[in-house]
Amino acid sequence: MADPLKIVGISGSLRKDSFNTALLHAAAELMPADVEFSIVTLHDIELFNEDVEREGFPAAVVALREAISNADALLIATPEYNYSIPGVLKNAIDWASRPGSAGEMPLSGKPLGIIGASVGAYGTARGQHHLRQVTVNTNMHPLNKPEVMITFADKKFSAGQLHDEPTRKVVRTHLEALVAWTKRLSQ
Ligand SMILES: Cc1cc2nc3c(=O)[nH]c(=O)nc-3n(C[C@H](O)[C@H](O)[C@H](O)COP(=O)(O)O)c2cc1C
Repeated sequence: MADPLKIVGISGSLRKDSFNTALLHAAAELMPADVEFSIVTLHDIELFNEDVEREGFPAAVVALREAISNADALLIATPEYNYSIPGVLKNAIDWASRPGSAGEMPLSGKPLGIIGASVGAYGTARGQHHLRQVTVNTNMHPLNKPEVMITFADKKFSAGQLHDEPTRKVVRTHLEALVAWTKRLSQ
């Protein structure tokens, strides 16, 4: 039997009651059976600074880079901040985009699912498009469809649970498509 695919979920929010982190927990429930899924948060990732980088990646950055390197695909759940992605997410991507001592680039060539939840009416659409722009230079391979742009998140989540059935269905379809996309890119 083939090894299970490894997918790492990254939440772009540090908030304790984050809808986007809750969305990743929903993804864990809805993930196809042949996938090993784990979630990382970005609490310990310090602000990128080339002077710090020159001294060596900080431990939390090393852990993030290793988690990404060991993954077959990434699933980023991002809030939309001011029509873009949160600084904490961009900061983590910047750290992960840098070549390591052996020239390794953890993000390069990585299949990527992009999902997001917002309390507003646009469901992170504008933030997700900014994230897609960042995937070009980092050479990630984002899945295009189906999009998961969850509007009015405060009505669809409660107590950290995604309870809206049509939304759960779209998330499930996205995850199935991400698995198929990852397998296709690995051929
Ligand atoms: C600095 C800031 C900027 C925001 N900008 C937007 C925005 O441009 N569009 C939007 O739909 N919501 C915006 N919001 C509201 C977020 O969608 C909302 O706070 C959401 O719950 C954040 O995601 P989280 O629950 O995962 O933390 C913003 C919130 C903050 C704190």
